[in-house]
Amino acid sequence: MSADGTTSNPSGRIVVVGNEKGGSGKSTVAMHLAIALIKAGQRVATIDLDSRQSTFTHYIENRFAWAQHIGRELEIPNHLYFTENTNNPTAEDEAADGKAFLDVVNARTGSNDFIVIDTPGHDSYVGRIAHSIADVLITPLNDSFVDLDVLATVDRETLAVTGPSHYSRMVEEARQQRLLHGNLATEWIVLRNRLSMLNSRNTRCVGEGLQKLSQMLNFRCAEGLAERVIFREFYPRGLTAFDAVDERTLGTRLTMSHVAARLEIENLVTVLGLRGSATSGRPTGNSRAAA
Ligand SMILES: Nc1ncnc2c1ncn2[C@@H]1O[C@H](COP(=O)(O)OP(=O)(O)OP(=O)(O)O)[C@@H](O)[C@H]1O
Ligand SMILES: [Mg+2]
Repeated sequence: MSADGTTSNPSGRIVVVGNEKGGSGKSTVAMHLAIALIKAGQRVATIDLDSRQSTFTHYIENRFAWAQHIGRELEIPNHLYFTENTNNPTAEDEAADGKAFLDVVNARTGSNDFIVIDTPGHDSYVGRIAHSIADVLITPLNDSFVDLDVLATVDRETLAVTGPSHYSRMVEEARQQRLLHGNLATEWIVLRNRLSMLNSRNTRCVGEGLQKLSQMLNFRCAEGLAERVIFREFYPRGLTAFDAVDERTLGTRLTMSHVAARLEIENLVTVLGLRGSATSGRPTGNSRAAA
């Protein structure tokens, strides 16, 4: 990839998980996606752009430590934690960070099938570059008007969507930039996360708003993940709903919630169409951590 956003080596598909709203599930989705892709036989590199919280990086570190603790092999992506200067950066600082980021992406495209990039829950220079080089952009969104606010403006009387908001305008600009440089359009998928098991008016209205917005802004809506405590419990051990279901790996008893979460992630990977044609027996080049 060059500094103007053009792609020089198209072999690694770039999947960016982004939403300027904090806490929408980006790091959780990025981790699940990366592990699901490795398990499907893909070579996966991961990049954490959230230099302040580094949740994605800690998640992977927790996985490494847990694998050693239980003496089992667990797939570990080829991970990089990228630090961006966020302390009043000058234009020169931004240009240097942007170039360094494109260099690390470029260095990974040839040797990986996918590069999964987790972004911070706020606007940043490198975050915007990441959006402009995304082959696939996944935006997890909690089922709430507070979260919808970053994507759309809403009529306060009717609760109907009236137009795009700041994050969707940024995505539009990033997509336009990409097209200007002759790249294929970014496929944008908005993934509903933490869906309530109860069929509330709120859930219905947010769903209708998203459907309308998807036509305005050309994204696909994916039925995402339900609100499940188990998604929070995976983190300290670096596990995902895709990991082996034996009690030693889980460190706890298997529950129906685990099975349901796994099905949701499997559906998600299928809906995203990211599994590719690789077979599960293929060597991935990703490391496996074990004692
Ligand atoms: N489907 C879910 N069910 C229950 N809890 C969830 C679900 N998805 C995510 N969470 C929890 O929601 C919180 C936020 O998730 P996560 O850290 O993945 O969001 P994020 O968008 O990366 O946040 P940030 O913008 O701060 O980086 C975490 O406590 C996570 O465990
Ligand atoms: Mg995060």
